[in-house]
Amino acid sequence: MPHPTPNSLTARWRPEFPGLERSVYMNTCSLGQLSRRSMDGMQRFQEQWLSYGASAWYELWLGEMADARARFARLINAQPHEIAILPSVGVALSVIGSSLDFSIRPEVVVTELDFPTIPYQWMARGEEGAELRLLASTDRVQVPLERFAQAIGPRTGLVATTHVLFTSGWVQEIAAIARLAHDAGSLCLVDGYQAAGQIPVDVKAADVDVYISGGLKWLLGGPGIVFMYVREELIPQLHPTTTGWFAAKDMFKFNPERFEMAEDARRFEPGTPAVAAVYAANAGMSIIEEIGVETIRARTAKLDADLIQRLRTAGLEPRLPGDMARHAGIVMLPVDAPAAAVKALKERGIIIDYRPGALRLSPYFYNTEAENQALVDGIVEVLRG
Ligand SMILES: Cc1ncc(COP(=O)(O)O)c(C=O)c1O
Repeated sequence: MPHPTPNSLTARWRPEFPGLERSVYMNTCSLGQLSRRSMDGMQRFQEQWLSYGASAWYELWLGEMADARARFARLINAQPHEIAILPSVGVALSVIGSSLDFSIRPEVVVTELDFPTIPYQWMARGEEGAELRLLASTDRVQVPLERFAQAIGPRTGLVATTHVLFTSGWVQEIAAIARLAHDAGSLCLVDGYQAAGQIPVDVKAADVDVYISGGLKWLLGGPGIVFMYVREELIPQLHPTTTGWFAAKDMFKFNPERFEMAEDARRFEPGTPAVAAVYAANAGMSIIEEIGVETIRARTAKLDADLIQRLRTAGLEPRLPGDMARHAGIVMLPVDAPAAAVKALKERGIIIDYRPGALRLSPYFYNTEAENQALVDGIVEVLRG
């Protein structure tokens, strides 16, 4: 198969990501590439730290946080005051979990294909009354909507599931899931860590109550920063007990006698965030905005299709959904010893990841068809060896 020259989008953006010169990097679903812009952002953070110390830090940092809220809000069609900044998905779930009452509606509906942090959260809250209802997959790719419909009922207090599934790339119908939840009087929370940036997200159209994503992967912002959207009408009804001074309405009053919570999503922020990560994430999201998510989606889908074809030409069979329109970014290739294959590929300068029983491949807009071929050649060599 020919190695076409990179398309213009890829050619324009590759120099922005110097790490692409160091390896064939096909692992954005674990960690997005570091951009020059994010490096500049973190450098700016260091300069401000050096120059101002604590004399202006909150003004500068809170300003950078406000920018980050606004950028993420634009990406998912939300409003900045509906966005909280947190260090990880696990912490975001803990804060939301601490604001729920499981005494009347104890059941939390989750699927076995959600990232384990999601079921763990409700298992850990068993003593508070939470009961996990884990939906099985039919094929390790998806969980049919009928299974949600069957499981959600009058005992369901929360449906907590994922937008793009981390071991299949399947795009769940979050609007339909939210409708099922709401019709039964339940809330709906969506983990969009594998979605925002690489596919269009509209939380208002989907009508979800909580949507979580972050810098690490497709938003190109690195670790340490997660955004949590909470629908504005829901904010005043939730009173997290995992909390701190950032959640106070007037945090700079430092009043130990009275705790009035912020009216906006800041009430879900317990304290000072990983500030360098906020700078890196703003830079990453500025790239996503500049290119446009629709353009990114089209280019990545093309690269996925190209990779799948090259794998098949080499006699390899990826595990894929029947409906490729519902697939995004993550190509799973079942193999016998994935950890050993990942290690051997790393020695050849090819970076991918694995999950139990399969290699996990995830080209992004900055990758090329030539890299797809190098990856396939590497896999063939390693599996033969
Ligand atoms: C879908 C999904 N959710 C959550 C996580 C982990 O979240 P955190 O480490 O921020 O708690 C991952 C992987 O890193 C993921 O793929």
